[in-house]
Amino acid sequence: AIKTLNNSASCSHLLRRGYGSEAVPDRKVAVLGAAGGIGQPLALLMKLNPLVSSLALYDIANTPGVAADVSHINTRSEVKGYVGEEELGKALEGSDVVIIPAGVPRKPGMTRDDLFNINAGIVKGLCEAIAKYCPNALVNMISNPVNSTVPIASEVFKKAGTYDEKRLFGVTTLDVVRAKTFYAGKAEVPVAEVNVPVVGGHAGITILPLFSQATPKANLADEEIQALTKRTQDGGTEVVEAKAGKGSATLSMAYAGAIFADACLKGLNGVPDVVECSFVQSSVTELPFFASKVRLGKNGVEEIIGLGPLSDYEKEGLEKLKPELLASIEKGIKFANN
Ligand code: NAD
Ligand code: LMR
Repeated sequence: AIKTLNNSASCSHLLRRGYGSEAVPDRKVAVLGAAGGIGQPLALLMKLNPLVSSLALYDIANTPGVAADVSHINTRSEVKGYVGEEELGKALEGSDVVIIPAGVPRKPGMTRDDLFNINAGIVKGLCEAIAKYCPNALVNMISNPVNSTVPIASEVFKKAGTYDEKRLFGVTTLDVVRAKTFYAGKAEVPVAEVNVPVVGGHAGITILPLFSQATPKANLADEEIQALTKRTQDGGTEVVEAKAGKGSATLSMAYAGAIFADACLKGLNGVPDVVECSFVQSSVTELPFFASKVRLGKNGVEEIIGLGPLSDYEKEGLEKLKPELLASIEKGIKFANN
């Protein structure tokens, strides 16, 4: 069904870029883990997105309250809360995009891989339900370790016979958000104009920002680029330490997750030239999954864009990250098949 967007009902200038009052199709978005630290602000941001007509908020607890709260906002989408496994199918049915921020976050001293034992099982269960109830949805995986949870999802979908590599995305947008912010600060350029691709994966040295391709151009010294790279790679840890045991990035992640989901919806709706970095099945390198710039379209991934020219420092970073990223990918695949 095509509905005409009511301008007065759409208050998010943040997510409306490129859209006027033209007809937009109905789109259902499900958030799994919607009552969590990321889930709640992400539910808010998705409620502000005029491309969403139906918003399903699922968690194992506390979603009725979050859904009641968010549902009072006078924007387009109809909000429903679902709680407990018996309601997961209903939450997922008919979804165009499923966003997964379900799982435990890090505490100081932990790596993202330390979350594997708990989150791998959570993600596996949720992906089995996606294969059953909305096999054609675009899946936006936020749960860590992303370098392993995306391969787990791919294996679950393969087993169910529903895998389409064009529809599975690891959300690495927060790395891009951070790289843009840190670069703008150092280069003293307007942050809204900054673009920086971030490739590789989403953990420590597997996060490789390509500051040699950053725009607007700035003449930064090698040491400054190295410091920016390290800060981007350690951005998650910076937040984990500042929160001192109360979790990891939630607000900036919700923002990043909302940007990425919006890009997926725009792609589905046929908006041209929607490009975001994401961790996807890829042949850009010899690794089976890799984050790079991806063009989004009506079926999900439309084109995986190559790395472009790298500086010597970036080439070195690329070679260094490969063994760690491959090990995390293989760990995910092995888990899903046992
Ligand atoms: P949180 O603990 O605040 O929230 C997690 C939510 O998941 C909780 O509400 C919990 O009830 C729910 N949950 C647990 N098991 C579930 C299940 N089986 N089904 C549905 N929901 C379930 O944690 P958070 O801060 O929101 O972080 C969530 C995840 O996102 C963590 O794994 C974290 O590491 C990850 N994360 C990823 C990025 C990224 O850039 N990709 C950034 C930040 C955080
Ligand atoms: C982040 O980058 O903020 C997330 O992956 C959460 C974390 O554990 O650092």
